[in-house]
Amino acid sequence: MSLFDTFGRVHNYLRISLIDTCNFGCTYCVPQQKPGKKKAEELMSAQEIYEIAGVFVGLGIDKIRLTGGEPTLRKDFGQIIRKLSEYPVQLTLTTNGFLLHQFIEDLEVAGVKSINISIDSLREERFKAISKTTGFQTVYNNIFLLLEKGFHIKLNVVLMRGVNDDEANDFIELTRHYPLHIRFIEFMPFTDNEWERNKVISYQELIEQLSEKHALIKLPDQLHDTTKKYKVAGYKGTLAVISSVSNPFCSGCNRLRISADGKMRNCLFAQTNMDLLTPFRNGEDIVSLIEQNVKAKAFQYGGQQMTPDIKNSQMLLIGG
Ligand code: GTP
Ligand code: 5AD
Ligand code: SF4
Repeated sequence: MSLFDTFGRVHNYLRISLIDTCNFGCTYCVPQQKPGKKKAEELMSAQEIYEIAGVFVGLGIDKIRLTGGEPTLRKDFGQIIRKLSEYPVQLTLTTNGFLLHQFIEDLEVAGVKSINISIDSLREERFKAISKTTGFQTVYNNIFLLLEKGFHIKLNVVLMRGVNDDEANDFIELTRHYPLHIRFIEFMPFTDNEWERNKVISYQELIEQLSEKHALIKLPDQLHDTTKKYKVAGYKGTLAVISSVSNPFCSGCNRLRISADGKMRNCLFAQTNMDLLTPFRNGEDIVSLIEQNVKAKAFQYGGQQMTPDIKNSQMLLIGG
C-alpha cells in the first residue's frame, strides 16, 4: 500500500507531534500570545500514538520523525520511541536538545541513528535573546555528547537578517573539525511570528556570501530532501540550506503530519486538518480518512502564497 496524492507524489514520511508545549520560547516559533495548553486527555496517549502510527505504517510510511512543541517534554517519551521502533521505519526526532542527555539509552535501544537539533546562535547572550532561555551551554554540551555517542547530528539554524545572519561562518567553522551537518533554514511565516520577507536570508544570497570565503563543493540532493547540500573542501561536516521560501521543494514532498491531539495535516501550510483521534477512539477505521486527506493535498504551501498573511496554524503546534 502506498499513499499517493493527486500530483503523483508518494507519501512515506510521517511527522508526529508529541506535545503542544515547549520549554523554549523562540521568537520565530512561539507566538507572544502562547496558545492554551491542551488537557492531557485531549492528546494522543503513548498507546494511541503507537496504534495510529501503525495504521500509517500499513499505508507505506517508512520514516517517522517525532516533533513537538518539544518532544522530549513528554514524560513517556522513552516509552513512545521504544514502542515505535517495533515498526520497520527510520525513526528520528527534531528537538531543542536541552533534555537529550536524559534519553541516550532510549534513543540507542530504539535504534535512532540521526537527530536534528535546533540551535540558532553560538553566542550565549544571543541564544538567550532568541530562545528566551539560559539553555545554551546544556544544548551545546548535548550536541557534542550525542556526537561522541555516535549519532549523526544535524543542526537547524533559522537565519534572520539582523538577528543571527552574521554567524553563518561560525557555524561552518564547526564543520571543519567535527562531523556536524549544519542546515541554514530560510525564516518562514507562521501565525504571529513577526515574519517579514526582508528578514529572510535566501538560499542564493547565503551561498553567494559564503562562496566569497569558502571553496564550496555542491553535494548531491535526493528527490525528497528539504536541503540543498554543500561542504567545504577538507572539512569533516557539511552545510545545507532549507529554502522553503525562495526555492520550495514541494514537487518532491513526501511528508504528512499529525498533531499531538491527533489531527492530520497534509502540508506544513495546510489551512485545514482532519481529526483522526476522535474516530480512532470511537473504533472507526481511519484508513479512508487518511487517504482522503492525502488526496486533498495542494501542490504547494497548502494552496497559499508565502506572504505575512499566510493562514496556518502556529509552528509550535505543528512541529515544523
Ligand atoms: P530531514 O528528514 O533530516 O531532512 O529533516 P527535515 O528537514 O525534514 O525536518 P526538520 O524537523 O529538521 O525541519 C527542518 C526545517 O525544515 C524546519 O524549518 C521545518 O519547518 C522545515 N520543513 C520540514 N518539513 C518541511 C516541509 O514539509 N515543508 C516545508 N516547507 N518545510 C519543511
Ligand atoms: N521558519 C523556519 N523554521 C522554523 N522552525 C520553527 N519555526 C520556524 C520558522 N518560522 C524550525 C525550528 C526547528 C524546526 C522543527 O522548525 O528551528 O528546527
Ligand atoms: Fe510539502 Fe507543503 Fe512543505 Fe511544500 S510546503 S514541501 S507541499 S509540506
